[in-house]
Amino acid sequence: MSSVVVVTGSAGLIGSESVRHFAGLGMDVVGVDNDMRGYFFGKDGSTKWNLDRLRKEVGERYTHHDVDIRDRDGLLNLFAALGKEVGLVIHCAAQPSHDWAAREPFTDFDVNATGTLNMLEAVRRHCPTAPFIFTSTNKVYGDLPNSLPLIEQETRWELPEDHQWYGGIDETMSIDQCLHSVFGASKVAADVMVQEYGRYFDMPTAVFRGGTLTGPGHSAAELHGFLAYVMRCVMEQRQYHIYGYKGKQVRDAIHSSDLVSAFEAFYRAPRVAEVYNMGGGRYSNCSVLEAFQLASEITGLEARTDYVEDNRIGDHQWWISGLSRFQAHYPQWKLTYDVPAILREMYEANQDVWKA
Ligand SMILES: NC(=O)c1ccc[n+]([C@@H]2O[C@H](COP(=O)([O-])OP(=O)(O)OC[C@H]3O[C@@H](n4cnc5c(N)ncnc54)[C@H](O)[C@@H]3O)[C@@H](O)[C@H]2O)c1
Repeated sequence: MSSVVVVTGSAGLIGSESVRHFAGLGMDVVGVDNDMRGYFFGKDGSTKWNLDRLRKEVGERYTHHDVDIRDRDGLLNLFAALGKEVGLVIHCAAQPSHDWAAREPFTDFDVNATGTLNMLEAVRRHCPTAPFIFTSTNKVYGDLPNSLPLIEQETRWELPEDHQWYGGIDETMSIDQCLHSVFGASKVAADVMVQEYGRYFDMPTAVFRGGTLTGPGHSAAELHGFLAYVMRCVMEQRQYHIYGYKGKQVRDAIHSSDLVSAFEAFYRAPRVAEVYNMGGGRYSNCSVLEAFQLASEITGLEARTDYVEDNRIGDHQWWISGLSRFQAHYPQWKLTYDVPAILREMYEANQDVWKA
């Protein structure tokens, strides 16, 4: 079996977890990350701290390349040099925020859509049998989830229990003819292209459409990284702006280690052109209000929030991922973290960093 894993966005939340995990299995990991997150979100968003930590922890098993995934020749050269040594590709580098995408649509599309095409083509030319994992997003469903018949409860919006998607929205929801945001549309382009390289070129590609992905490796920024930013605001006593839906909007949250164990399941038994909704599902979800309640209980600190009437464009009022397709293909995989466990871990991991 080839022993090299290529991870893009390797200093980011999911990329760094992937590096640690696969290096821990004895594989050599080649990381690609140019700290563009610092450009997107300013110094709070930079992932340099995480790269430094990664290098210390993983040591020789990790090789870093400061390549921009928009740099087609840079990627082709890298993959040409690695060749068939590559046994797995995990593509996480992205512009991850829909609010940010509207500021620079060219940059967003060049990174998310064209960058993904650059990766796919480099893999097709140099290591086409390597499983190719792409971190897509539930934003490919645009605002269609907002047409569900939601009921208002005390702290959250909720679906009726007898609704077909009460347990979570599955992959049969349409991604077409709805409002996506510029970010959602660039991710749709990438998502469909990853499927196409699977179907058309018979490559083992998989699209994981994430809900809220989170974990201690998150560089919390206001426009991206929901639970990490909630915890950071409470710990640093910063003001948090809640946008619309009375703060009762529901997200499911999956810990980066649970997501990466799903990647490993796919790596060990790859399939072609798969699409999976992937998040915390019914096991791990909360509303914004519930997240603050939990963060206050964990820290013993009051949350400072204010309310802005208008929701973010295209923001989901309720999203819980339906996991049954993935679970049917990989029955041994299980979620191990729920929202309280995720928040507690963030609190403990960041006590020295996030201080009032
Ligand atoms: N975090 C979430 O809640 C969430 C939810 C759904 C989907 N996703 C998707 O999962 C993937 C990973 O998310 P994450 O939270 O780990 O993101 P992240 O921002 O923490 O990490 C992405 C990394 O990619 C790097 N990067 C960005 N542009 C680059 C470029 N042009 N060239 C090289 N490197 C570049 C950044 O510097 C960063 O370190 C993304 O595709 C994102 O859209 C994330």
